[in-house]
Amino acid sequence: MTKNKEKEKKKDNGEVNSIWGGRFSSKSNDLMDAINVSIDFDKRLAFEDLRGSIAHVKMLGKADIISQDEVEKILGGLTEVETELLDGKFNFSRELEDIHMNVEGRLREIIGETAGKIHTARSRNDQVSTDLRLWVRGASENLQKEIIKLMKSILGKAEENADTIMPGFTHLQVAQPITMGHYFLSYIEMLGRDIDRFEDAQKRANECPLGSCALAGTSFEIDREFTAKELGFSRPMRNSLDAVSDRDFVIEFISCLSLTATHLSRFAEDLTLWTSDQFDFVRLPEAFTSGSSIMPQKRNPDAAELVRGKVGRVNGALISMLTVMKGLPLSYSKDMQEDKEQLFDAFDTVLLMIKVMTGIISDITPNKKNLLSAASMGYSTATDLADWLTKELNIPFRDSHKITGRIVSYAERNNLKLNEVPIEFMHKLDGSITKDIYKVMEVKYSVGSRKSFGGTSPREVLKRCADWRIKLHG
Ligand code: ARG
Repeated sequence: MTKNKEKEKKKDNGEVNSIWGGRFSSKSNDLMDAINVSIDFDKRLAFEDLRGSIAHVKMLGKADIISQDEVEKILGGLTEVETELLDGKFNFSRELEDIHMNVEGRLREIIGETAGKIHTARSRNDQVSTDLRLWVRGASENLQKEIIKLMKSILGKAEENADTIMPGFTHLQVAQPITMGHYFLSYIEMLGRDIDRFEDAQKRANECPLGSCALAGTSFEIDREFTAKELGFSRPMRNSLDAVSDRDFVIEFISCLSLTATHLSRFAEDLTLWTSDQFDFVRLPEAFTSGSSIMPQKRNPDAAELVRGKVGRVNGALISMLTVMKGLPLSYSKDMQEDKEQLFDAFDTVLLMIKVMTGIISDITPNKKNLLSAASMGYSTATDLADWLTKELNIPFRDSHKITGRIVSYAERNNLKLNEVPIEFMHKLDGSITKDIYKVMEVKYSVGSRKSFGGTSPREVLKRCADWRIKLHG
């Protein structure tokens, strides 16, 4: 007998599936199982599924839809299921397709037929949407905690390097000198907005679908406010069709993940670049680098490169989910089962990226000497020179820009640094230029002078660091 023929034989109790087998006479095809069974990944929803069931059963009792004895019996059984899950003793069965039917199936084994009452006024459609919303809430909180840890570790480096001078780039060309503390603070700002985004998305996701049933609600007199409150949701969802059929909260969460991943990817790119011999700006902790199997001298920034690269799969998950949902007819369709693997993978990936960046940043060592000399390259203080002309001699900035351009070009032709250009040459451009102009060409002076709010001066950086210390509670 082939495997499938064997499967076609009904179980002893005459049903092919103890949960929904009533209407079916033959077992599913192996390929059907391959495409349909989700327990391998949705087992991650086990605890959320239990929470949802517990709230639902309590509500059924409170609304007199099932008896108090039945409530006790079911809750007792669910507690046993929970213990098995916690002890790793729960036997997940592919025959039971998904986590919802696995939990109910096991409950039936433990307490018998009463288990069937758990699904009164409920469908897997509102159940899975509830589970997933609970899961996203937990994941979002978890992630925000890790982002805060990362922010604290960056903040430590920002404070340590409030006056470490480095080149600031635009177009990857040296633009103006900045302080490294200022650079680090920029990532704290980005991550701070990421946290705001996760919180904001959570406000919309935190509504309860439970009680929407398959799609149309139910004729049982259920109490949706009760279950919503019991599960920590702000309110029950107002439309049962919407409740079972949108996954906008998954998409929104992944899009927040994508942005965080994008920020980390840029950060990781700078670090990767900066460890190259050509830059030699920072040294990454050895524990986050690796050697080459052929070139003994190499120390590669693999961890930073992988943080840079992993954004690809996170963005992939976002596009996958947008594509899955696009054009789906209302209300629930099985297509939506595709949400979980994308969601889980995007979350796991970003969580790892955050933790790895925290590890890298807490142990990063700036090469201050190199940073300083690189900061003086590329006529990085030319803007300071133009600003001086405008400030001290009242020359309109456009003209100051021109004069400075001539000075830079003279320096370039004669292979001089900006502060080596003789005053005699400057006098040819404007007779009133004084020797005071030389001091603004010093990088230290330059960064110190940029005291505008949000600017690069060490004083300003320390002020902003102090703000963040308070916000991040030390
Ligand atoms: N495993 C399913 C999912 O993830 C649960 C909902 C199934 N609903 C149904 N009507 N078949 O979407």
